[in-house]
Amino acid sequence: MCEMLDYPEYLMYDNEKVNEFRGKWNKFFKNENDIYLEIGCGSGNFTVQNAQKFPDRNYIALELRFKRLVLGAKKATKRNLKNILFLRKRGETILEFFGEKEISGVYINFPDPWEGEEKKRVISEDLFKKLDVVLKSKGKLFFKTDYEQYYRDVLKLVENLENYEVIFHTDDLHNSEKAQQNIKTEFEQMFLSKHNMNIKYIEIQRN
Ligand SMILES: C[S@@+](CC[C@H](N)C(=O)[O-])C[C@H]1O[C@@H](n2cnc3c(N)ncnc32)[C@H](O)[C@@H]1O
Repeated sequence: MCEMLDYPEYLMYDNEKVNEFRGKWNKFFKNENDIYLEIGCGSGNFTVQNAQKFPDRNYIALELRFKRLVLGAKKATKRNLKNILFLRKRGETILEFFGEKEISGVYINFPDPWEGEEKKRVISEDLFKKLDVVLKSKGKLFFKTDYEQYYRDVLKLVENLENYEVIFHTDDLHNSEKAQQNIKTEFEQMFLSKHNMNIKYIEIQRN
């Protein structure tokens, strides 16, 4: 936990300070570029690689585990990135620290499946209500999972939402038209190398 203090440029853990930036994240990044959010970033490979690939976008990555946050901050430090920040925040609390239409896109990669306890899942009707506030019009949610039932449930959930539409989905990302642009996460690497699993993927757009 102490190591979190070593990366003040990349890791903000003081809740009061985080919440003060609500609606003002562009001031933090010192530019007007679009802001992309990752919920449950693990040790940060995905967001770090995105930030490196798209220097004209800003990235904020949320994670609960200290060790993973520190690993992410270390990777950002090594690459001297200027467009990435890690926060120790729950995905469910985004209204506390994002203002109206402040986010252009949200990534949720391999969230905990909560088999049998679906109400605990991060992707829920409640999350979409929050995205109604913080996500820009035409903003997107990108979701990857190894878990077939989560994939099916999210497709069904979005069918019943007025403001959102599934614009792409596949139950085999690595053999789809999106394979080339895909950036693999740590869990994705593991599922592929150890279990050779098909990865399910959905892109959802806000009206
Ligand atoms: C299965 S791991 C996937 C990590 C990473 N996205 C990947 O694909 O390698 C899920 C991660 O989400 C984090 N997490 C779980 N619930 C969360 C929540 N409500 N808000 C933010 N992060 C969460 C966990 O600590 C864990 O690191």
